[in-house]
Amino acid sequence: MRRFFIETWGCQMNVHDSEKMAGLLGSLGYGPAPEARQADLILLNTCSVREKAASKVFSRLGQIRRLKESNPGLLIGVCGCVAQQEGEAIFARAPYVDLVVGPRNIARLGALLEQARLEGRSISLARDDDPVDFPSSTTARAAGPRAYVTVMEGCNKSCTFCIVPFTRGREVYRPPEEVVAEVRALVARGYCEFELLGQNVNAYHHAEDDLATLLRKVDRVAGVRRLRFTTSHPGHLKRAIMDAMRDVPSVCNHLHLPVQSGSDTILKAMNRGYTRDRYLEKIAYLRRVVPAIALSTDAIVGFPGESERDFHDTLSLLREIEYDQVFAFTYSPRPGTTAARLEGGLPEVEKQSRLAALLDLQDGIQARRNAALVGRTFEVLLDGPSRLDQGVMKGRTRCNRIVHLAPPHPASGLVPVRITRAHPHSLSGEAVGPAAPA
Ligand code: SAM
Ligand code: F3S
Repeated sequence: MRRFFIETWGCQMNVHDSEKMAGLLGSLGYGPAPEARQADLILLNTCSVREKAASKVFSRLGQIRRLKESNPGLLIGVCGCVAQQEGEAIFARAPYVDLVVGPRNIARLGALLEQARLEGRSISLARDDDPVDFPSSTTARAAGPRAYVTVMEGCNKSCTFCIVPFTRGREVYRPPEEVVAEVRALVARGYCEFELLGQNVNAYHHAEDDLATLLRKVDRVAGVRRLRFTTSHPGHLKRAIMDAMRDVPSVCNHLHLPVQSGSDTILKAMNRGYTRDRYLEKIAYLRRVVPAIALSTDAIVGFPGESERDFHDTLSLLREIEYDQVFAFTYSPRPGTTAARLEGGLPEVEKQSRLAALLDLQDGIQARRNAALVGRTFEVLLDGPSRLDQGVMKGRTRCNRIVHLAPPHPASGLVPVRITRAHPHSLSGEAVGPAAPA
């Protein structure tokens, strides 16, 4: 049997795209290889959102090339956003690469492999008007109770720093019946928590449906215990969606709502389409309708022209909102984006020092918020062994906190857990009741 190995960089969408590719390869008779050296096909599923993504990919390709010397039949593919962005240039820089597949083209993987084998090379990149196939029936998902479900591809926003609209193209939405059918099939296979995926997921719409009605339809599938969705843009966070978060029983009390900056000047330069006040109003409404909501966000520091004052506006926003988690990044110019042409770039050392200050502030906020949970009891959905210690299991609360559970504990299911200790990025607890089957 031929064997494949996929390396994945980046976000949940990429993780899920790799599951789709693994499933397609399985249907073509490939089996997974435990490591790259044992594979006949190596796919790098790449991300180009930040940093020197392309150079990282080329340096990894340099290592993989050596495997081809001892295994001349080995096929090497570059998939994902770097594939879309670099295209043919990948063959020029790394002639030993056999196939290049953009993120919208993974359904064509089988045909591309065949072509690469027959003709020595194949490439498929998306154009904006290309239809998107959502190859869901073969997807090889990770074991466990949680599953990703794609509800849309692409992003129609034009945040000036972001490469995604260039690499993933225009928005395309899956019909709700298809989403519901996929969820129903997954419930039958034992999954009970679902995360609906899209780069701009709360812009989802299809005929009469929007994300709020889609959440209701998925919730009605018997066996759906928990429902999440990501990533949301603040501009598309309509009241109907927030009301659905309050009313739809399986929807979890956590929202990831990227703010990027607390300064109106910078938000405008980023073309985010909202002000600090408008963002705060949405958070206030959400906290009113879902008082136990946990919030996380993305923030960028060192955007071109970001003054000390702008940066302090971001810090003050973090203090004001007190997020439960913040993913913070230094600004990294992406080729072809509007922001990459802006003047006023900050020195790397200044960006790093702002990032450190922001993370330091957030660590304190998070430590306080986590400590406040000690003694309380939460429903935890167990999902596998914890890396913390032998015999310890881990799982997540509905508010998306990771909880480590020392023995004795059930092997799976939804368990009531009393929190005994808080860590900076997770919690520890003890089971205080039997597990409900997931
Ligand atoms: N759809 C999401 C939203 O509404 O903001 C963002 C998706 S983007 C792939 C994930 C995160 O990467 C962004 O929220 C942003 O914080 C970060 N990011 C994107 N481009 C970046 C850049 N050029 N430099 C630094 N961080 C960046
Ligand atoms: Fe990127 Fe903005 Fe879309 S951050 S993914 S262009 S919402």
